[in-house]
Amino acid sequence: MSAIESVLKENRVFEPSETFTAHANVSGMDAYNALCEKANADYEGFWAELARDNITWKQPFTKILDESNAPFFKWFEDGKLNISYNCIDRHLADKADKVAIIYDKDDGSSENITYRQLYERVCQLANGLKSLGVKKGDRVVIYMPMVADAVVAMQACARLGAIHSVVFGGFSAGAVKDRVKDAAAKIIITANESVRGGKRVPLKATVDDALAGGDCTSVEKVVVLQRTDADVAWSDDRDIWWHDLVQHQASDCEPEWVGAEDPLFILYTSGSTGKPKGVQHSTGGFLLGAIVSMKWVFDYKPNDVFWCTADVGWITGHTYIAYGPLALGATQVVFEGVPTYPDAGRFWHDIEKFKVTIFYTAPTAIRSLIKLGADLPKKYDLSSLRLLGTVGEPINPEAWMWYYQIVGNSRCPIVDTWWQTETGSNMIAPLPGAVAIKPGSCTLPLPGIIADIVDESGAPVEKGNGGFLVIKRPFPSLLRTVWGDNERFKSTYFPEDFGGKYYVAGDSAHRDENGYIWIMGRVDDVLNVSGHRLGTMEIESALVANPLVAEAAVVGKPHDVKGEAVVAFVVLKGERPHGDEAKRMAAELKNWVAHEIGKIAQPDDIRFGENLPKTRSGKIMRRLLRSLAKGEEITSDISTLENPQVMEQLKHSV
Ligand code: WTA
Repeated sequence: MSAIESVLKENRVFEPSETFTAHANVSGMDAYNALCEKANADYEGFWAELARDNITWKQPFTKILDESNAPFFKWFEDGKLNISYNCIDRHLADKADKVAIIYDKDDGSSENITYRQLYERVCQLANGLKSLGVKKGDRVVIYMPMVADAVVAMQACARLGAIHSVVFGGFSAGAVKDRVKDAAAKIIITANESVRGGKRVPLKATVDDALAGGDCTSVEKVVVLQRTDADVAWSDDRDIWWHDLVQHQASDCEPEWVGAEDPLFILYTSGSTGKPKGVQHSTGGFLLGAIVSMKWVFDYKPNDVFWCTADVGWITGHTYIAYGPLALGATQVVFEGVPTYPDAGRFWHDIEKFKVTIFYTAPTAIRSLIKLGADLPKKYDLSSLRLLGTVGEPINPEAWMWYYQIVGNSRCPIVDTWWQTETGSNMIAPLPGAVAIKPGSCTLPLPGIIADIVDESGAPVEKGNGGFLVIKRPFPSLLRTVWGDNERFKSTYFPEDFGGKYYVAGDSAHRDENGYIWIMGRVDDVLNVSGHRLGTMEIESALVANPLVAEAAVVGKPHDVKGEAVVAFVVLKGERPHGDEAKRMAAELKNWVAHEIGKIAQPDDIRFGENLPKTRSGKIMRRLLRSLAKGEEITSDISTLENPQVMEQLKHSV
């Protein structure tokens, strides 16, 4: 494979302000470099010290990293701890009355839950689950709305040493069934319904469907939270209401002390092809990654109000809702609703209402909020904000600039955090009081994360050239295996092509002259136009830089001469254009790309839609777009799409 070419030119740089740097947990580049050097000089000692300082151990570890059975690495193996103890109990001495969770409900009402109250709710549920026979190592599927109780359920499992597997509440019965079966779950925790954007979605009925065929023989009980007044079908010997289960339970529950390597959870990644993988995380290493990134990347301070808008169905909701903020004793917003309800000002309204200081969301949310109301943030007092973050995909520089200027009032650094379900916590992101930021770059690796960009032989590529993003040393929060499939773990993440030594992320990236990392997209999405290998991200960013464009996705389609031609799927800020208007717009955008990055990247084919096909977590489904580009019938299941109706619009070239 020839190197992947980088064609994007982005020259804007924003230094951290003196005040931000003065108060930052990692203050200035010297402090950042010192941490990196410490990790380089004594890699294990570096992580061991952090693990001792940040985690409360029941039994201290004596072993640090065991690489003898690579890539099945072990960290802190003989240490014993409980993550729920670390997230709750250890704060009770001095923070019992501090608000842990501001539960921000769909209808706009809210409820404050203190650390003491959270402790009691978690203990009662843990005792209830115990009464159902749940013990260490058992699997519990959590299929719930974004209610505060979803966090309670995760914490209760962790308290017992049970392994949770959260299944996103938007998934179908088939997806629930596959995951329940793969994990052989004993218990499912769900709700009668969820409420999103004023609409009710049945959850219990979906669980009933999933269990109907009789395939899920492992399931003994279904615990049902009563979120709404809706009646649901009931199976007396299997189903039990959450409120009945906890009613007479004690509000104390001794945590189960587990080994650092005991699994904390499984989280299935849908991936674009094939059977979902059960990404399995450890207890100690995962917790450490969550804590250090909260301190370094989110610069967490005791007075912060932290808001991560993800769903607990995704890794971001695990690390930066269910565990990270609680481990630090933070106050955080847990948001049940959707960003567009009651209108596209919901985020800004709630930032003002709860005086949020750190706000973490996804580029896809940012782009859709620009489209629906670019001026809306100005209606609210957002002066409480001090730090903004993004995650999930590369953020196009123009969306970044809007977030920076309009939401952050050019005051708040943006931490563009690159990481994955598999890495468990942030890997590459600016430490905001140290690293100057550039729109569209996730900048530099966290201290102790040895990231590099290599060609297919594993050799580092020259600056400016694209290649495979790898992590060269095992780090604590890395996944331990794919549940029940060690071979798949090895071949997917430590492939022999790279000598089996490096964690291969599956993303393409390049480094600029300052050593900053720019993610170019998934390796599988790279286009090959006339022998030039181009990442999707850069062409998409060029399109989004046009003032009329809200969103864009590009894929390749076979071309006799060029090998592949670029096909662009575009959403405009205004109406979707038709007829001559669409032709004129398409011509204008082709010229625009040629002018911004060069003729080589110019789309042959442009299609306009009101939206793009996205997974429920907001990722663009390029696999479907590739089929559309080639004019193929879509035969795969598109029921897990957020917006299946846009597929029809995108079938046709202008
Ligand atoms: C992409 C989400 C560019 C990337 C935490 C990665 C990003 C995949 C970024 C993992 C970012 C995530 N910049 N790309 N800041 N963050 N990605 O498992 O392709 O849902 O491999 O984890 O999202 O997605 P996942």
